[in-house]
Amino acid sequence: MNAIACIDDLRRVARSRLPRVLYDYVHGGSWTESACRANVEDFRDVLLLQRVGRDVSSRSTRTRMLGQDASMPVALAPAGLTGLLYPDGEIAAARAARGMGVPFTLSTMSICSIEDIARHVGGDFWFQLYVMRDRAFVRRLVDRARDAGCPVLVLTLDLQAQGIRYRDLHNRLSVPLRITPSTLWDMATRPRWAMRLLRARRRRFGNLLDAHEGDTSMRGLAAWTQAQFDPTLSWEDVAWIRDLWPGKLVLKGITDPADARQAAHLGADGVIVSNHGGRQLDAVPSSIRMLEHVVGEVGSQLEVHLDGGVRDGQDVVRALGLGAKGVFVGRPYLYGLAATGEDGVRQCLELLRRDMDLVMAFCGVCDVTEIDRRVIFGTR
Ligand code: FNR
Repeated sequence: MNAIACIDDLRRVARSRLPRVLYDYVHGGSWTESACRANVEDFRDVLLLQRVGRDVSSRSTRTRMLGQDASMPVALAPAGLTGLLYPDGEIAAARAARGMGVPFTLSTMSICSIEDIARHVGGDFWFQLYVMRDRAFVRRLVDRARDAGCPVLVLTLDLQAQGIRYRDLHNRLSVPLRITPSTLWDMATRPRWAMRLLRARRRRFGNLLDAHEGDTSMRGLAAWTQAQFDPTLSWEDVAWIRDLWPGKLVLKGITDPADARQAAHLGADGVIVSNHGGRQLDAVPSSIRMLEHVVGEVGSQLEVHLDGGVRDGQDVVRALGLGAKGVFVGRPYLYGLAATGEDGVRQCLELLRRDMDLVMAFCGVCDVTEIDRRVIFGTR
């Protein structure tokens, strides 16, 4: 294997190791995948200003995100089914994040549970919540995250319906993975992945095992979950969660400045400007294009973060220059995880830090917290 120079190298290794059905699940987006592509491509239109003649020999990427120290302004975004990409994938990713000093966010739809992460890695990870129809269960999830010691709750608001993903339909993605002659062939050509997963102890949605009385097989839990996503979710529910949750609350899936204003009004500590990595509504602008609008509206009241399309340290600096306090990455670390587990996630974070540090030198900035509009030349 060639040396890994960038995140796209990790993606290529991930593609060679994962069955196609899972690679497509991670890599793909909804409908024509235009939001997914725009998230990445629109970063290229944000041009940085190179500045010289400053002593940049001593630089720091240390910052704080939502009250937590972070070695750089990058967090791992929540992702469902991570534990199917690599055994105990959420534990591996949380370990890598902890080792690198950045926040890890556990999805409601993870394979390893809140308690698994707390037991193996400690309690200072963040938890992402989906509000389900069964509000008593949602309340229990919030209590479990609090009891585990999570300091930050990330409440995802953009799953009022599910985007259509052609790749998943073509591949007949199902949970658990359906065994057909073609998926069997797909998995047989990835023996390393198959052997690892066969040995894995955790293969069900860990957070949902106590969700209902019925069938707790993966199939039963998946069916239950499908019926549980709640299109009635409203700002009243957000106010309810705000009352329940004693720690920092971040609302994820905000792109409309008016929604951001409502988030501030309800006492959220932050928002994540996000179109779910282009996996929900496809006909939307990229996250980086919406960032400035949201920052303009609420940037002085709460922390504005961004996710979607961050693929190197230049993108992190671009987002900070346009007013983000930090960024979350999804696919980049999932590629790393699928490639080589915990090491791959660490490698992904090291690449981001390496680039960010160098870009700071080129832009004449020594302290990441001082990055502002002055590093931006303009947008194409
Ligand atoms: C996600 N995302 C996501 N978001 C969330 O709030 N809960 C979840 O369970 C998931 N699951 C999930 C699975 C996979 C495979 C992906 C790729 C993404 C969205 C995620 O948190 C984030 O918004 C995007 O991944 C950011 O875009 P990039 O960094 O992947 O371009």
